[in-house]
Amino acid sequence: MSESDDELFIREDPIFIKKELLEINHLPDEGRIVGRDEEIKNLANAVNPAIFGQSPSNVLIYGKTGTGKSLCAKHVSKRLVDTAHDEGVNAEFAYVDCAQDSTETQAVQTIADSLNSLSETEIKIPDKGIATSTYYKRLWEILDQLYDVVLVILDEIDKLEDDDILMQLSRAGEAGKVDSCKIGVIGISNKIKYKEQQLNERVKSSLCEREFVFPPYDVDQLNDIMQARKDAFRDGVLEDGVIPKAAALAAREHGDARQSIDILRYAGEIAQSEGAEKVTEDFVVDARERAEIDRFRELIRGSTPHSRYVLQALTILSLDEETDDDGHRTSRIYDVYEQVCRQEGADALSLRRVRDLLKEHAFLDITEQSRRSGGSAEGSYTNHKLLEDPQVVRDVLADTVE
Ligand SMILES: Nc1ncnc2c1ncn2[C@@H]1O[C@H](COP(=O)(O)OP(=O)(O)OP(=O)(O)O)[C@@H](O)[C@H]1O
Ligand SMILES: [Mg+2]
Repeated sequence: MSESDDELFIREDPIFIKKELLEINHLPDEGRIVGRDEEIKNLANAVNPAIFGQSPSNVLIYGKTGTGKSLCAKHVSKRLVDTAHDEGVNAEFAYVDCAQDSTETQAVQTIADSLNSLSETEIKIPDKGIATSTYYKRLWEILDQLYDVVLVILDEIDKLEDDDILMQLSRAGEAGKVDSCKIGVIGISNKIKYKEQQLNERVKSSLCEREFVFPPYDVDQLNDIMQARKDAFRDGVLEDGVIPKAAALAAREHGDARQSIDILRYAGEIAQSEGAEKVTEDFVVDARERAEIDRFRELIRGSTPHSRYVLQALTILSLDEETDDDGHRTSRIYDVYEQVCRQEGADALSLRRVRDLLKEHAFLDITEQSRRSGGSAEGSYTNHKLLEDPQVVRDVLADTVE
């Protein structure tokens, strides 16, 4: 059989032509960023002084998952660097994913390494093996040798083990560590309480000069975000109703752009695996389900042990009393949480901390909270309800153990 006769394999992807537009790490170009004009303008405004070689404001960005925080921070930083260059100012930005580089040493290593140019500075930044203080010393030298101003994006900043690096970066100038280079920090988090719970007062005052909250996307914005990427599909393959339906489902749930892009990709993949010629609305429902589980899995993967124990407690209650779709009281969840901690050999956190963890879950749409009135004898209390199917939550918790 000659090569061209073998019909065992399909030679061309029948559904996608530029699938990378829908891949997780794809960074869309400017024209494909939709519905964030205001946020982009505010961010640009905060860091604008960098263009005249002055100190940019430090910024903290909050918002639920998939609201475009990482995307907009990178986008604005890139444009800032380009504009600064046009003005003859040496600017650069460094991006740190603190979920990956969670220790001070790892984070400062990443920053120094990404800003360094060995041929110009002759400063070596080894992967490991030197003291944290040495990394800092080299970083300050690199900054003074190469740049007028630098932005450091600390993404998922709540994953940092402590705030020492923030202290160092925000005070490098006044502490005389760097002479001429200005430093601006953009911190990003999807934890509403990050600032209150994890930052000491001194860092808070210098880091949080400007704060922005990115709201979830509405149905029209999600629609536009997906429309801007529909050239991922071959001509005529994507039926007209698919994107509006995906947008409607995604907007009703979380307003999460990542999820809506995932839905679109999954819808295509399902069509592919079923050998369909077109991506129809029928595939959207299953695609949504997959994307929803992905979203949830990602949120769980990034959470701390106690945050998971709390969720486990609520799951146990939900599985036990499945008929009770009214939710479960904080005090009841706390009892079960204490049992979970005993099993895990961990010390239970205070009721107050557990209440905060429950708030975080609600903020990320893992649970829903409602205030209840128990009548004059009981006063009011809060009920918590899982938004995901408890069986799914249980399975995901079980297979994402560290
Ligand atoms: N306004 C937008 N226009 C086009 N694509 C977008 C927009 N907002 C987000 N996206 C896409 O959605 C995905 C999620 O966005 P991003 O990573 O910026 O979210 P995030 O707010 O940082 O979420 P998390 O808190 O989970 O880190 C990315 O693939 C991004 O390219
Ligand atoms: Mg992000």
